[in-house]
Amino acid sequence: MAPYSPPTGGRTGKLRLDFNENTVGASPRVIEALRKHLTGEQLSIYPEYGAAKERFAEFFGVEPDDFVLTNGTDEAIQVLINTYIDDGDEVIMLQPSYAMYKFYAELAGATIREIPYRREKLAFPLEELVDAIGPQTKAVLISNPNNPTGTGTTRANLEKILDAAMNAAVLVDEAYYEFSGVTALGLINDRPNLFVSRTFSKVYGMAAMRLGCLFSQSGNVEFLHKAQSPYSVNTAATIAALAAIADRGYVEQYVGEALAAREVLYVGLEKLGIPYYESQANFVLFEAGKRAIPIRDELRARGVLVRDRSYEIAGCVRVTVGTRSQMRHFLSELEAIW
Ligand SMILES: Cc1ncc(COP(=O)(O)O)c(C=O)c1O
Repeated sequence: MAPYSPPTGGRTGKLRLDFNENTVGASPRVIEALRKHLTGEQLSIYPEYGAAKERFAEFFGVEPDDFVLTNGTDEAIQVLINTYIDDGDEVIMLQPSYAMYKFYAELAGATIREIPYRREKLAFPLEELVDAIGPQTKAVLISNPNNPTGTGTTRANLEKILDAAMNAAVLVDEAYYEFSGVTALGLINDRPNLFVSRTFSKVYGMAAMRLGCLFSQSGNVEFLHKAQSPYSVNTAATIAALAAIADRGYVEQYVGEALAAREVLYVGLEKLGIPYYESQANFVLFEAGKRAIPIRDELRARGVLVRDRSYEIAGCVRVTVGTRSQMRHFLSELEAIW
């Protein structure tokens, strides 16, 4: 296996439009809560999750037994695969999609089947995916909306996948849910093969904290617990996340700003004559042709970070949507080198 080594070095102080993070940072109330509650005594105690789980359950509209807290979505993917996948089992994922699906599936020795996104508008390949699923399929891993395409699918289409994959654990990774508003979480009670993940890394601005949630029916959650370390989520992460969910206004305001900024980005790219793919998330793929890597490097030299994706979608570069002023800054730097 190739190690997964994201280019995370030397990012501080630059305009970070490369990892789909919140570009203005976590709510000030999160920092306040950490200062207040992160005492020497707290640090000396192994994490306790009971009270926090009650509050998260209320916030997400589920029961405390319907989810596990995870060390980011990455651990949610790992725990799901470790719980349900044995050597040689078939795991289906889309291509391109979030790299860690393949990483953990490979690590588990799974037989991986990848279904390509449609070339046209990078649309969700529903029929192709449903056709590929068979009784031998043990897991289906979907990101909705998808990274890096930005495209998503509907809840009705997810139901078709759940119908087809009765023998499989179906993960719907909703890392960018807040930007799309489409969720499968409400289907948990009726769908025993459904797993939904959420993260505090993106809109909540807490990527460094490493906190996610993996939801499913409580019977499945009991199995997930068997494959998870009892203390993989640290106390600081739960303190921070409790403050974050209490400050709904901050996240709503950021989502509104990012959606407005995405329009600014679209208009700017159109003015420059640069083709792009419409996105349901806080990032956009645009076509730089043969110059994808030089464009990334020239932007970096100007203090603006973006991600090259040309190795998986020819000529494409991915830019995270931040605020409107950050998008204007990005566009002016792009115009200068285009
Ligand atoms: C689709 C998707 N899922 C999960 C993650 C990672 O989330 P976390 O920081 O919660 O591990 C990312 C990060 O880029 C992502 O794009």
